[in-house]
Amino acid sequence: MRRLSPSWIGFIALPIIGCCALPSVTSAEETATAVIESDEAANWEASNPIVPIPDPPLGIGTDENLPAKLTDFEDPPTPERVRLGRWLFFDARLSADNSVSCATCHRPEHAFSEPTPTSTGIGGQVGGRKAPTFTNLAWATLPHFFWDGRAASLEEQAGGPMINPIEMGNADHQVVVDKLSKIRGYAKYFEEAFGTPDITIERITKAIADYERTRMSGNSPWDRWRAGDQDAVSDDVKKGHRLFFGNAFCNNCHKGPNLTDGDFHNLGVGWDAETETFADVGRYAVTEEESDKGAFKTPSIRDVSKRAPYMHDGSVKTLREVVELYSKGGIPNPYLDRKIDRRFAERLDLSEKQILQLVAFMESLDGEGYQDTAPTSFPQ
Ligand code: HEC
Ligand code: HEC
Repeated sequence: MRRLSPSWIGFIALPIIGCCALPSVTSAEETATAVIESDEAANWEASNPIVPIPDPPLGIGTDENLPAKLTDFEDPPTPERVRLGRWLFFDARLSADNSVSCATCHRPEHAFSEPTPTSTGIGGQVGGRKAPTFTNLAWATLPHFFWDGRAASLEEQAGGPMINPIEMGNADHQVVVDKLSKIRGYAKYFEEAFGTPDITIERITKAIADYERTRMSGNSPWDRWRAGDQDAVSDDVKKGHRLFFGNAFCNNCHKGPNLTDGDFHNLGVGWDAETETFADVGRYAVTEEESDKGAFKTPSIRDVSKRAPYMHDGSVKTLREVVELYSKGGIPNPYLDRKIDRRFAERLDLSEKQILQLVAFMESLDGEGYQDTAPTSFPQ
């Protein structure tokens, strides 16, 4: 026997239920809306309920110059916008052929990064950069998003992948707006979030950015130790902490609650000594400053154990190899950051023990607050 696919069942059932359950004065369109609201919407909403804006976990929201809670920001995320943003973030219909969602590359189980060196988008096309995490970015210290900082807000950033030909592949933002406008179920949630049912690219990106802001990571063993729990971490972690913030100078760049200065530095990753060129010029593409060649945004070290392989091109396989790279002073090139260049800074030459301690420290930064799974049901 041939089974009906769910979409066919919906197609057949809708008009039948509609005609019998409601008074005959109701127009066909109103009837359909009523049915959507009563039955299907309950299903969608059950898989993505409205929840209060969460408080930051231990260790987050502690920057001196920034608000302590998400709700203290100007134009803060609202529960309704976050619900809408969560659907949009996980909805593959945002891509041209319905195959790629934001979560295809930013996977929750990898702290919203991915386990591959670089990203694969629409039609199996492989990009040149790795999808970074975006946890704790409500507290970004500098308004720079992407590895090269070319977007100035999470909203601006979110519009990028939708029209990137190798990521989600839409011709322009209007295509995305038109497509979502045809999915009748979404109108109710745009109204709930923004006051009217109109769908615009500004509203789409605002909702997604607000969902991203609620993805926080803290309360790691390291945060608990810092808050006074002596047993939260091992001795190696404590020694690794001392190195990170001391003789290994890691906190020259990885600093603050999110362990990043949000600025750009050249470690030499991607430098080809033979051709004397970078595979990727990084920040230079934005500023055209010679000194920015091969410089990339300092990533947060939180949840780093979930994000191998490392660096903007995923070229470094393990945390141990990352530390070894710093130990020898980065990869020599004309633009190497002075903070790690051994001609200016002291060469680290870390011992085997110290390398393990730094790795143990970084592994103690696995936090909580960002975890999520895709909603099982979406507005239709
Ligand atoms: C095909 C894979 C892919 C898809 C799909 C994708 N991204 Fe990304 N994302 C990346 C890559 C790769 C980067 C880094 C690109 C760069 O720096 O040029 C990135 C960067 C980001 C950043 C910047 C983080 C930071 O620290 O600056 C955010 C935020 C982000 N993406 C959110 C999203 C959202 C929201 C969507 C859906 C609308 C999305 N991404 C879709 C791969 C992807
Ligand atoms: C001069 C600034 C600077 C210093 C000092 C520094 N880092 Fe970094 N770190 C960066 C930048 C920039 C990147 C990304 C580089 C790239 O992708 O090309 C990075 C990447 C990393 C990564 C990979 C993270 C990821 O998501 O891919 C780890 C782990 C790391 N650093 C740990 C350390 C440790 C441990 C130290 C001390 C031994 C240290 N860093 C010192 C700037 C710095």
